[in-house]
Amino acid sequence: MQVGFFDSGIGGLTVLYDSLRLLPELEYLYYADIENVPYGTKSKELVKEYIFTAVDFIIKQGVDALLLACNTATSIAVRELRSKYQIPIIGMEPAVKPAIRNTKEKRVLVLATPLTLKEDKYEDLVSRVDQNHIVDSLPLPGLVEFAENYEFHNPAVEAYLRKELAVFDLDKYGTIVLGCTHFLYFKKIFREILPAGIEIIDGNEGTIRHLAKTLQVPLAGEGARPLDLLPGQVSLYLSGEKGDKELIEKYFAILA
Ligand code: DGL
Repeated sequence: MQVGFFDSGIGGLTVLYDSLRLLPELEYLYYADIENVPYGTKSKELVKEYIFTAVDFIIKQGVDALLLACNTATSIAVRELRSKYQIPIIGMEPAVKPAIRNTKEKRVLVLATPLTLKEDKYEDLVSRVDQNHIVDSLPLPGLVEFAENYEFHNPAVEAYLRKELAVFDLDKYGTIVLGCTHFLYFKKIFREILPAGIEIIDGNEGTIRHLAKTLQVPLAGEGARPLDLLPGQVSLYLSGEKGDKELIEKYFAILA
């Protein structure tokens, strides 16, 4: 069984990494729309066009299911994609619900792309689950650029995050939600600069559990090693062209 993973760029590789670990029996096609990344700072109409072109291509390769490893693409297009295509389509959204469940007497800060935070889908989600008005949000498009440029150990990353977070009294927050798949590469640096008590959560594992349930495949233990499975089980496409899997290895190294 082959699953297509789609993201605007290399962010969804953070989901693929966990999926290889938890669902090592599957085959994967990863599509990064590197010609058009970033999505999160562009118009909804333009991004929708990019998504439909990419998904058309992925579906033509004969995948059995599609995972939108991108919160932005999910918020823009998941409903329309589901009505256009017959295969199961799994989306991702910022893990606001688990964050609220987790957070006692403190606030929740959701970090995502500007487009995700502007969309009705996000507003609907927050108004449904945030009864006590404890959720705030912050767009961090700069992290997408840093990740695409493979800038992780650069002092500019830390300076950017410190500046963006400076407007919040972080001691009031109990949970930070990483609501963009590109942001997961920065977990270590978030840990370093956030107060010790803040929990950092993301939607990766929940999404993979959902995928497993949809496909009715069992989850493996923690044993599988993503890098070992790369050569045999993953094909890579960069905006419709076959890509070199060294790119994946390079980004997996940040997550290992
Ligand atoms: N990785 C994406 C997400 O989860 C989008 C990043 C972008 O292209 O702006 O939202």
